[in-house]
Amino acid sequence: MRWLTAKGTQRENHTPQAQQLALEKIENPGSAGRGDDIPSAGTKMIYAKNWGQKVLSRREFIAKGTGTAVTVAAAASTGLLAGCANSAASPPPTVRSFHDLAGPRSLRAHARRHGLIYGSAVVIPVVQRNADFASLLSEQCGILVPSNELKWVALRPSRDAFNFGPPDFLYDFTQRNQMLMRGHTLCWHESVPAWIRKIDNKDEIKQIFVDHITTVCKHYAGKLHSWDVVNEAIDPNGKLPGGLRKSFWYENLGPDYIDLAFHTARAADANVKLTYNDYGVEVDNDGDAEKRRLILEMVKGMKSRGVPIDAVGIQSHLNAGLKYGRGVADYIEAFHQLGLEVFLTELDVNDDETVSSDLAERDAIIARTYTDFLTAALPNPAVKIVLTWDLSDRFTWLNGIGSHRKKQPDRSQRPLPFDTDFKPKDCFYALRDSFDRRKRA
Ligand code: G3I
Repeated sequence: MRWLTAKGTQRENHTPQAQQLALEKIENPGSAGRGDDIPSAGTKMIYAKNWGQKVLSRREFIAKGTGTAVTVAAAASTGLLAGCANSAASPPPTVRSFHDLAGPRSLRAHARRHGLIYGSAVVIPVVQRNADFASLLSEQCGILVPSNELKWVALRPSRDAFNFGPPDFLYDFTQRNQMLMRGHTLCWHESVPAWIRKIDNKDEIKQIFVDHITTVCKHYAGKLHSWDVVNEAIDPNGKLPGGLRKSFWYENLGPDYIDLAFHTARAADANVKLTYNDYGVEVDNDGDAEKRRLILEMVKGMKSRGVPIDAVGIQSHLNAGLKYGRGVADYIEAFHQLGLEVFLTELDVNDDETVSSDLAERDAIIARTYTDFLTAALPNPAVKIVLTWDLSDRFTWLNGIGSHRKKQPDRSQRPLPFDTDFKPKDCFYALRDSFDRRKRA
């Protein structure tokens, strides 16, 4: 078996608990008196010694120079340094105050103060290549998840290979920035490699299934916050018992493949939070209500059989203008009653149905959709983490989907907290304000 890892990477065993502590230090600098001792390899960071200071204008902020959180690279690339020497050079940019996005004003800090961890999915090559985006991630996010690189197709280019390089890189990046990392996904009906589809011996497929989960979970044992062990196994439109989806795994391993996946993951990693993740459960309508019922039944069944499940993931791919409220709130409370945690794992807002193309109007509708959904979901203490499915509109998957190309071929989606220039949008503030409305930790 071949491991393809990032060469010469020093592995430090930071348990998630240790990282929590480090997180506390970052967001509450007063408490740990830390202000300037997290050197990020290769990124020069400068930190404010005392956040109690008056909010600075960008010009004062730059002029002050010392003791303010900014990456020199980001400053340079976004022209922040422009005109510093000669203040009359360029008008201050639009954000309310640069200070307003970083440190204690970041999504990361606001979430933390309210018992949540905020984070994002990432496309790893982007983190490797784009220093500005990498620093925006480290500023705004407390947890990251690879959007593709831990799926079977990416991780298992062939039967005898594990491509751990890219996700190992991301793990090191999270370590350098005191962030957590979660895994997505050990078992999904999509992203099944061609080489395993050619195998027609069910016992052999079962052995490969168990070996894959064991190997991957052991490789990251003690390092990840949580795993999406099984993703999207329910299809209410399918005809199978319990609404199970007719997937490659169902057809070759039978309905017990879900329990097998969770038991195998737990055997390989004693502490990681094992999660069942799905979509189409968010809206107040009959279709989503039926899927919520089927998943709740499935999870209750797993609990009754002693399957080691710790959490349920609600993907939260929302659509602007739809109604979010009682349905998802009751769904979350049902899992709370079962003693499970709930993760909002892939939040974004598709606004292809919004007629107006006025950007301000579109952004206001998208922000309201964030607010409506989070107002229903966040009050429940079972909700522990909120991830958006990327952080900037520049990298959203939504611009690549067929329905978008058909409905709105001439306009780009705006589903995420930061726009394509990494500027905060209305939904950045809607997300942060939603965190603030939640009871303090
Ligand atoms: O890596 C190959 C590249 O080598 C090849 O040249 C290129 C052209 O075909 O494809 C690249 O793979 C693409 C991969 O994204 C990486 O970019 C796949 O075709 C493409 O299908 C894949 O799309 C991902 C999709 O899941 C399917 O895995 C999206 O980026 C990702 O955002 C999306 O995420 C899913 C979650 O896992 C589950 N929930 C829904 C969510 C959105 O669909």
